[in-house]
Amino acid sequence: MQYLNAFVFDHPLIQHKMSILRDKNTGTKDFRELVDELTTLMVYEVTKDLPLKEVEIETPMAKMKTKMLEDRPVSLVPILRAGLGMVAGVQKLLPTAKVGFYGLFRDHDTHEPVEYYCKMPENIANSTVFVLDPMFATGGSVVAAVDMLKKAGCRDIRLVCMVAAKVGVERMSAEHPDVPMYCAALDDVLDENAYIVPGLGDAGDRIYGTK
Ligand code: PRP
Ligand code: URA
Repeated sequence: MQYLNAFVFDHPLIQHKMSILRDKNTGTKDFRELVDELTTLMVYEVTKDLPLKEVEIETPMAKMKTKMLEDRPVSLVPILRAGLGMVAGVQKLLPTAKVGFYGLFRDHDTHEPVEYYCKMPENIANSTVFVLDPMFATGGSVVAAVDMLKKAGCRDIRLVCMVAAKVGVERMSAEHPDVPMYCAALDDVLDENAYIVPGLGDAGDRIYGTK
């Protein structure tokens, strides 16, 4: 099935680093650094249509007209906890991006997201918003985040994740077809605990060394 609004990166660097990230022998320090590097590589593509404005600058040799990003703000919304591990990777390329925090955990029995924290930047409605979460499994967490952002008035929302499951992509395509999904890998199935298989395990635990 073709997912019109899902982009799966096939760049060799991304595939190489994803293989190390998935490996169960990769420890916490390397895992965290890889999430950071992969996010930066992905952001290059996710930002490819950001609008530009013409400006005049002066080089040491002459005045010239050139282009810079328009002033429209970018906001990053990591889904806690694991999404926090992607923030610095975006900030390397977009250092002035604002950051909002959305705290969700998945109920162990229902696998439905439960909200425990929400603190968004002022005037987020005027921003281009990147929702950050390494794992996109049933899609419940991302759908909840996008619902919340649309209620706050956001219209330009993009999802950036490491591993997406097909079922999550299908759910988002149905519920939020206007939100592009950028993933470093697309996996086929979930297990009985709604974990992605082969996936990479529990992203939060691997980033923060909690198990
Ligand atoms: C994980 C992950 C996503 C969510 C994905 O978070 O980081 O937020 O599950 O699953 P879904 O697509 O089925 O909603 P988790 O609940 O494990 O919380 P954590 O980041 O605090 O570990
Ligand atoms: N959350 C994770 O951290 N991993 C999964 O595979 C699914 C949800």
